[in-house]
Amino acid sequence: MITYLASVRQFQIDTPHSTYALAVVDEGYLCHVYWGKRLAPQDMTALLRLSEGPFVPSKNNRERASFMDCAPFEYPVSGTGDYREAAFGVETPDGARICDLRYVSHRIYNGKYKSAVLPHTWGNGCETLEITTEDKLLGLTVILRYTVFEGLDAIIRSAYLENNGSRDITVTRALSASVDMDDSRFEMLSLYGSWARERQAERLPLRHGKQRLDSLRGESSHQYSPFFALVRPETTEESGEAYGFSLIYSGNFLAQAELTQFCQTRAQIGIQPEDFAWLLQTEGCSFDVPEAVLVYSEDGIGGMSRTYHRLYSEHLIRSKWQYQERPVLINNWEATYFDFNLDKLKTIADEAAKLGIELFVLDDGWFGRRDSDNCSLGDWTPDERKLPGGLKPLTDHITGKGMKFGLWFEPEMISPDSDLFRAHPDYAIGIEGRPRTESRAQYVLNMARSDVRRAVWAQMKKILDSAPISYIKWDMNRQLTEVPSRTLWHSYVLGVYALMEQLVTEYPDILIENCSGGGARFDPGMLYYSPQIWGSDDTDAKERLRIQYGASLFMPPSAIGSHVSVCPNHATGRNTPFDTRANVAMFGTFGYELNVAQLSDEEKAQIPAQIARWHSISRLVREGALYRLGDPFRPSGYAAQMQADYDGWMFVSQDSMQAVFTYVQITAEANMKSRRITLRGLKPERVYHFSLGGEEYARTGAYLMQCGILIPNLWGDMKSVQIMFNAE
Ligand code: GLA
Repeated sequence: MITYLASVRQFQIDTPHSTYALAVVDEGYLCHVYWGKRLAPQDMTALLRLSEGPFVPSKNNRERASFMDCAPFEYPVSGTGDYREAAFGVETPDGARICDLRYVSHRIYNGKYKSAVLPHTWGNGCETLEITTEDKLLGLTVILRYTVFEGLDAIIRSAYLENNGSRDITVTRALSASVDMDDSRFEMLSLYGSWARERQAERLPLRHGKQRLDSLRGESSHQYSPFFALVRPETTEESGEAYGFSLIYSGNFLAQAELTQFCQTRAQIGIQPEDFAWLLQTEGCSFDVPEAVLVYSEDGIGGMSRTYHRLYSEHLIRSKWQYQERPVLINNWEATYFDFNLDKLKTIADEAAKLGIELFVLDDGWFGRRDSDNCSLGDWTPDERKLPGGLKPLTDHITGKGMKFGLWFEPEMISPDSDLFRAHPDYAIGIEGRPRTESRAQYVLNMARSDVRRAVWAQMKKILDSAPISYIKWDMNRQLTEVPSRTLWHSYVLGVYALMEQLVTEYPDILIENCSGGGARFDPGMLYYSPQIWGSDDTDAKERLRIQYGASLFMPPSAIGSHVSVCPNHATGRNTPFDTRANVAMFGTFGYELNVAQLSDEEKAQIPAQIARWHSISRLVREGALYRLGDPFRPSGYAAQMQADYDGWMFVSQDSMQAVFTYVQITAEANMKSRRITLRGLKPERVYHFSLGGEEYARTGAYLMQCGILIPNLWGDMKSVQIMFNAE
């Protein structure tokens, strides 16, 4: 519910458990008033401290700069006395970088704005506050938007810029959200990582100055995620306040918390300004700022995550697959890498079909003359040496076995050794006179150019129409270099979105899995086009516990591409029980990435049961609520508790009638007692049936959440159990 208290010019945005308030103050400045636990509509403007003399500009012009440098601005600008980090900045042809936005008008309406070029949240049951601000001298209009969806403690913020003046304006900074919180008692929860080690969670107290996470790589990156949370020191997984910030965007981003001289916190998220510039030429030229999603939780970090999961599952992912049973796939990458031919693929497919696997995905290496990663990106025609007659004989074979077929593409890339590059070297991003930096022996196509997109699309379309393709893995295996302009970083991302839009519009039935060298584009922007994203090139189950836990802080588990692979694992050399590899892959999309034909009979025998188990819980993973019960980041050894490391998580159906609990004993210890795990998210008064250690039990939700269940020593590292709970 959004209300306007005209007497004090205050806007109040209420969600079920939170309130966010802002107000128009003296001289039309727009200030942030409050964000936290829900309050009945009321005047909160005292929090702005405007009665404290020096801070009212019109009453004390002598101290205008003191006001500018400490007032809690809703969308701060630079150049007029606020020396904290701005949310918005411009440059005019004379080189001046001053902007002064003041309130003009507002409106509150049902529904929300839908950007034509950017991924965005959608759906019924939402309400929007739109505040128009203006820099009169520049003739620049900035519209700030706040949308709330019924039943969710989330606020979607974005902005829309329009030049109505008579001169060119270059926008140099346009963040999606900036919140000045009147508080410093926070810790920052964020994610860092690397290739094959994505999304490691880290939580540190805020200190004075700026704490920044960002990407200047052209993608959201392996290294940091466009997400962070400010949590109280006492906040746990289950209780306490958490404020989440997440950005629906897939390119360069900035996520930052600045603790200021007055111990206030300016929290911001948006496009990274450093490599950004956008020219708004006169005559109504406009710009859409990506959406940021701000989540408030008083139920700890877990509560925050569950709000993100619901919002992104119900109001961001568009694919019809979000609500459909997705086929269990087998991907040939770790099974064959580039070394395959029709017979080898058929052998894998035959065995997979026998075991009940439903979709065969042919990964990299099927096109051009791609025997390694040295060539052929851009030449999307089947390699007749490996696949005589093209894809058709293979897809006929696969569909003949009752399986569906999926295919890997890397549409944004071009190999220097490719026919496409030989014919159109200018298609690759670069600067005349400078060598292009190669990465994985490839260059990046200039996706901002519609002719380049058309050239790629024509080839993709031909392939998509040549065979029954039900799934696409869209990969992106390098970062951008030698980008010739600050505009191209963003227009590149818009170009990628445009091509993805074309794909999902023309082929709405295809299940798309996004990927970027593993999880370098594991961001909400991509969810708008693909309901799942490959989580990491690291398929080791123990490492995946951390990667998937980190990913689930802000992204729905149903989006995490997760597969069972062989042991010793290709990324770590570790051996993990086959059953645990499957249990861990069920925190995600679940599939296989190995040569099934080479598995032991004992392993093969487990596959049909794993698939059946997956289909019995996959709806819970897609639509249920996640409760993280363990912590794979807890240090072992000296600093640990008495008991050894473990991890555990539950998915509970929306009606609480069903739940599944997975427990992983990460490290075994001698003389280990059973571990008591208290469950969560169940209905206290309901009786749940479950079996554990061969015994059948019936216990109330209250009992299970207060007394818990006893998990015996499972004898060995990375042993696991999965338990189903069904209510009467
Ligand atoms: C990336 C992906 C892998 C695989 C390879 C193929 O690394 O993350 O899953 O598709 O590319 O080259």
